[in-house]
Amino acid sequence: MEGTLSTLSLDSVSTSECKKVTTLTLRQKKARREPISMLTAYDYPTALAMDQAGLDAILVGDSLGMVVLGYPNTLPVTMEEMLHHCRAVVRGAKSALLIGDMPFMSYQISAEDAVRNAGRFLQEGGMDAVKLEGGRERLEAVRAIVGAGIPVMGHLGLTPQSVHQLGGFRPQGRTAAAAKRLLEDAILLEEAGCFSLVLESVPARLAELVTRRLQIPTIGIGAGLGCDGQVLVTHDLLGLFDRFTPKFVKKYADFHAEMKRAFHEFITDIEAKSFPAQEHSIEMPEEEWESLLRELKHKGTKSQRD
Ligand code: KIV
Repeated sequence: MEGTLSTLSLDSVSTSECKKVTTLTLRQKKARREPISMLTAYDYPTALAMDQAGLDAILVGDSLGMVVLGYPNTLPVTMEEMLHHCRAVVRGAKSALLIGDMPFMSYQISAEDAVRNAGRFLQEGGMDAVKLEGGRERLEAVRAIVGAGIPVMGHLGLTPQSVHQLGGFRPQGRTAAAAKRLLEDAILLEEAGCFSLVLESVPARLAELVTRRLQIPTIGIGAGLGCDGQVLVTHDLLGLFDRFTPKFVKKYADFHAEMKRAFHEFITDIEAKSFPAQEHSIEMPEEEWESLLRELKHKGTKSQRD
């Protein structure tokens, strides 16, 4: 009896753990007012840990360029770099909804280009959806991609690919005119078919207003508690990116300091010859070792004679 019950509960756990999150799941969570969790990932082990932790969605963000590849901003990131990291994330995440971030110039030139590149995220990168930045000026691209059957997440507010146009990484929507424009853009993106919308670095009350006006879920980053979900750049959350930390980031760990500590300890061990210790070394049976020595001795005597 006990065995049957535990088997049953194990079964139900593994079934629910493997349940794939879809764009519909996010919509249902909004309807039920259940917060949506999203983080960025760029590699297999991080995606695996996030999936096992039960995260709703993973964004392979073009923040990759800054936090992993060391570029000054996201503009140099290419389609090939994005796809390479998407494939690593897919291998680790079986359950979370996977969203690939379309890099700069992969969707701005023409709707045809946008569809082709969005398609590559699904066909070659294994993603479930794509994200792109911008409002009214991106409607044609959004409609074309959605028309090809590819789910699109929008992104308004601080859109890092427009960093030069915005005059830096600065909060957006702080005047009545800018806030009205952002709300209009959000509605247009929803009408164009976006399944969700990221709101980055905008006043909390504006984000809440947008969230209430939309049917689709909003995911906030530096946009307060009024959004339907929250996203952070994982390297910020883990304290892995030491160049700067935006005000809206909560640091849940200090992995940069922890990495440096571990590397120092390794160097100290090497210099003190305390690593590798006995338990890290590979043994060879005594009789095999003796046999090798006998063989070498025999060969040595033979070659001296020859
Ligand atoms: O590239 C990224 O990581 C993003 C998030 C900040 C939403 O776009």
